[in-house]
Amino acid sequence: MKIVSVVGARPQFVKAAVVEKVIEKRNDIENILIHTGQHYDENMSSVFFDELEIPRPDFNLEVGSASHAVQTAQIMIRLEKILMKTQPDWVLVYGDTNSTIAASLTAAKLHIKIAHVEAGLRSFNRLMPEEINRITTDRISNLLFAPTQNAMELLSKEGLEKNAVMTGDVMYDSVLFYEKLAEKKYSLSDITELKDFYLATIHRPANTDNNENLQNIFTAFSNLDLPVILPLHPRTRAKLDVIKYSDNVKILEPVSYLEMILLLKNSKKVLTDSGGLQKEAYFLKKPCLTLRTETEWIETLNNNWNIITGPNADVILDKIKEDPTGEQGNYFGDGKAGEKIVEELTK
Ligand code: UD1
Repeated sequence: MKIVSVVGARPQFVKAAVVEKVIEKRNDIENILIHTGQHYDENMSSVFFDELEIPRPDFNLEVGSASHAVQTAQIMIRLEKILMKTQPDWVLVYGDTNSTIAASLTAAKLHIKIAHVEAGLRSFNRLMPEEINRITTDRISNLLFAPTQNAMELLSKEGLEKNAVMTGDVMYDSVLFYEKLAEKKYSLSDITELKDFYLATIHRPANTDNNENLQNIFTAFSNLDLPVILPLHPRTRAKLDVIKYSDNVKILEPVSYLEMILLLKNSKKVLTDSGGLQKEAYFLKKPCLTLRTETEWIETLNNNWNIITGPNADVILDKIKEDPTGEQGNYFGDGKAGEKIVEELTK
């Protein structure tokens, strides 16, 4: 059996690390790993491969940054040649980025089967590029790996249940696997001198490309009762010159996955517009405020472990005072999603 796995952006490196580890142990699978080059900076890309011990990609399409259409099209043009030559049984795609949809479309047109890790997520907000990428990828995939029961139900509502399998969430596998390694490899003082802090990230276009929203978020961060550590995505850094904020906001360069886990474990709460970080906060039992108007990960909202604030300073400053009202549920599987995914692919 031959699988071509396609990754391109930070969260996909984390998800693929889990599945690649399982595939590596199987001698009946030939695995070709392709990096689209959507993320390319050392601290956005190669640090993840080194730290998570992901095999070096067999191909790098080196598409870099561009508009949605150009980025998606360039991946398709470059990937098509490789898929035609390698003729895999499956193309394995992850999440909801432009790399995901580009790889899926290319495979579908070559009549190569597609398997989608993290299928069935919906924000019901079609202004998000990720929502378009998810809906389309799920629709043309042959095998859908749903991380949660809710994702299974959403796929079922779209008539896609016959292709869907509930596997659990590979990001949960990942936190369980790398949590100890993070503490072994780094100490908090390598990253920050602070002991008490909130941890934040911002990178969604709805926040970074709207000065009012971005200013509201920075105003809230400037007025929180603890310092805010903010490892900053290049998209957000590019907007800093038009934003006012106080020295309560401690900006860092993007951090590695293991450094992020360590920061999470030592933070008091998390404020983010990332989908992945909402869940990582949940797995590590840190309350989270989501700086968006909706979340795909509705399970995390139970008992206020995650609260949606939108980019609204008053709401953020108010909701940061609320603590979870009860225990967490077990929604994300048993930490063996990677194994289940590979088992399904080889059935
Ligand atoms: C992409 C995904 C998003 C995911 C995020 C994780 C899409 C549509 N969006 O968003 O779902 O949550 O990755 O980080 O696929 N840049 C650099 N260096 C890099 C990469 C990007 O400087 O290595 C800058 C460029 O200015 C680029 C901008 O960041 O234009 C945005 O990068 P892009 O890959 O288009 O989207 P992300 O915002 O990273």
